[in-house]
Amino acid sequence: MNGLPRSRWFLRMTSLVASVAIVVTACSSAASPSPATTAVSTSQATTATSSQAAPAATSEKELEIISPWTSGGENAALNALVAVYQGQYPGVQFVNAAVGGGGNTAAQPMTLTRLQAGNPPDIWQGHGGADLLTNYVNPGYAKSLNDLWTSEGWYNVAPKALVSVLTKGSNVYAVPFGIHRVNMLWYNKKVLDAQGITFSDTMTLDQFFGYADKLKSAGITPLCLGDKDPWTSAVIFEDSLLANLSANQYSGLWTGATPMTDPAVKTATQTYAKYLGYINSDHSALTWDQATQKVMEGKCAATLMGDWAYGEFHNATPALTDNVDFGWVPAPGSGAMFSVNNDIAITATNVADPTNAMNFLKVVGSVPGQIAFNKLKGAIPWRTDVDPSVFPPYQQYSMAAYKSLTLVSSVSQGLAAPPAFVQALNDAVTQFGVSKNVDAFIQALAAAPLK
Ligand code: BGC
Repeated sequence: MNGLPRSRWFLRMTSLVASVAIVVTACSSAASPSPATTAVSTSQATTATSSQAAPAATSEKELEIISPWTSGGENAALNALVAVYQGQYPGVQFVNAAVGGGGNTAAQPMTLTRLQAGNPPDIWQGHGGADLLTNYVNPGYAKSLNDLWTSEGWYNVAPKALVSVLTKGSNVYAVPFGIHRVNMLWYNKKVLDAQGITFSDTMTLDQFFGYADKLKSAGITPLCLGDKDPWTSAVIFEDSLLANLSANQYSGLWTGATPMTDPAVKTATQTYAKYLGYINSDHSALTWDQATQKVMEGKCAATLMGDWAYGEFHNATPALTDNVDFGWVPAPGSGAMFSVNNDIAITATNVADPTNAMNFLKVVGSVPGQIAFNKLKGAIPWRTDVDPSVFPPYQQYSMAAYKSLTLVSSVSQGLAAPPAFVQALNDAVTQFGVSKNVDAFIQALAAAPLK
């Protein structure tokens, strides 16, 4: 059993069978490659099939990571980061336990099941703020990383606002992979050019809907959505909130200072309903990356999606050029705000082999790790000492935006409100997609728990 205690070996095998099953389910209708649990070593850099992979996870020299990163761009970014790690720590096998679906859809329940069973992966991906605290810190799963933060000097290079969403009391519990902006609109430039349309950073809702009408009458679907996983609809609702509420009002929604019954929330819900009048008819069969793919192919003009969509454009085959083939602007009416979604790496208090996990965390927070991962992921480095000029155009734009705009926490990605609220939001957007009942939607949010 490769040196593993029998109980750990049994738990590993049981959970691997479960994870492979989840990945296979998630894969069955997705267009993008969903890697099943795969093992990659420096000496043998091949991607194993799921049936080949299970035995590899029993190796004593392994690093298993659970994440939702199965799309083309996500997978490329994770592999680039692991390559930096394996360059520094040769001989450790990477066990990729990614579970597709994005958002908090499938990887998070998988992680929680493993944690509850006392069988943590070495590392898992989460989001700072409410997600980290409620799911992982409060139940006692996440390991405090104070010593690592001090020895790596990270407190000197991390924005204070970022450290605060990773901290409870005097303990810091995660190392960020990068910082994503949620409120973005991605478009096919050639499709817009052909219609004489130019989106701008200051585009208002009225301007956008005017362009959308023009596109529609030319037979072009203005917006592609893939809401097979409902969090993608929650992204559009979040964009609608940001366009209709001030940053203070928006942030007050999660403390209770702004009631869900505030008239501005009703207006935002009407905006959200209006957006849904411009989407593709096959939206419920698609994932977020399949919707992004349709924009690349010119099957619709644009998509409202967090900037992980950049990873798809950036890694497309054949290659696409920024600001020639595709472009980006903030979600209409939300240009003054940067809705933050930070992906974070967490390890467990009872991780079986802390050495690999701690070494990987060091690489995640290092300058080479930050560059390798974020270049491909569409996120920006969280460290303030990384040279923006080594990044592609989008990240340079986003790094400047992060410095100058008002930062708010994303609700659709689980940072602003606790998991029970996010679940209620996902249920409410699913219902709303069918009923378009504004009052019922607001009542559902008003009844959702904020604590
Ligand atoms: C994660 C991103 C990921 C996206 C889609 C978000 O919740 O933070 O890292 O790319 O979901 O999978």
